[in-house]
Amino acid sequence: MKMSKITVVGAGNVGATVANVLSMGDVVKEVVLLDIKGDLARGKALDTWQQAPINYYSTFCRGTEDYAETADSDIVVITAGIPRKPGMSRDDLISTNASIVNQVTKSILEHSPNPIIIVVSNPLDVMTFAAHQAAGLDSSRVFGMAGILDTARYRAFLAEALTVSPKEIQAVLMGGHGDTMVPLPRYTTVAGIPVTELIDGKVLDAIIDRTKKGGGELVKLMGTSAWYAPGAAAAQMVEAIVKDENRIFPCCAKLNGQYGLGDIFIGVPVKLGKEGIQQIIELDLNEEEMKLLNDSAGHVREVMEVYQNMDL
Ligand code: NAI
Ligand code: 2OP
Repeated sequence: MKMSKITVVGAGNVGATVANVLSMGDVVKEVVLLDIKGDLARGKALDTWQQAPINYYSTFCRGTEDYAETADSDIVVITAGIPRKPGMSRDDLISTNASIVNQVTKSILEHSPNPIIIVVSNPLDVMTFAAHQAAGLDSSRVFGMAGILDTARYRAFLAEALTVSPKEIQAVLMGGHGDTMVPLPRYTTVAGIPVTELIDGKVLDAIIDRTKKGGGELVKLMGTSAWYAPGAAAAQMVEAIVKDENRIFPCCAKLNGQYGLGDIFIGVPVKLGKEGIQQIIELDLNEEEMKLLNDSAGHVREVMEVYQNMDL
């Protein structure tokens, strides 16, 4: 019998997609979709539930604006906040989203004593830091979704360039969720073959560049940020935890000395299972890769400073 109760806060584009993908996956008992716009959450949840007889699943989805209905959630996905508009960077969202993430996290903790929290709201690395601070939980239980999405974009571009199935592409990408993210060609394989043996260097460089700007490409096309791949990525993290799969994903995690970095949330490969982050995996990065990671960490710290100077 499926036992997990999952709350998704924010019933907008990403939150509704998380609820929908989780329901279709039929791996949890119940999804609660919460938004300050209660009717929006109720409507999207009802629509999701009404798919169940068609798509053959039993996960129940309900919407609310009342945190009491989130009581005893096992996992909470926070997507509440504003997305960026064309011309904005993810960092421009901090003044609005920091107070939302702070308030949402505290409200969740009033009703669920020990949930696992997956943050999606941007600027992702700093919002994960904010949620961890507000929750007061162990950092193995508070982490962020970005790396699965950024790696998926990288893998999709590679699959297209190589005319192979995206299923064959495995890759690692580290760093902050922004233009300084660090795709790692040395850890990218196509059915076990190093990608560098199959692709022209210039084509690979162009794909890396496109990946780094992948979020912005979609904002330009749609006037708001993406939701299908982000929603699927967050749902994949939930599934790995619920099924205790010990899957290895790039996630935004708190570092305590790994990679020479401390007191920072940033993307690194982790093992995800029923207790959340079971292990942070330390790769033997070369000098150039370390420099890129440090540059990215420098950028995350700049945004963190803005957050720390805010009066929340
Ligand atoms: P959206 O505008 O479609 O939905 C956001 C929802 O949050 C709205 O329905 C709004 O009513 C709700 N909300 C606002 N304040 C709230 C509060 N205090 N309590 C509960 N709900 C509240 O935005 P979308 O596209 O779903 O994006 C959500 C966030 O996720 C944005 O910050 C966006 O930048 C971020 N994002 C992050 C990604 C990542 O890779 N980490 C990928 C895509 C989006
Ligand atoms: C994305 O990468 C905007 O973070 C969002 O699509």
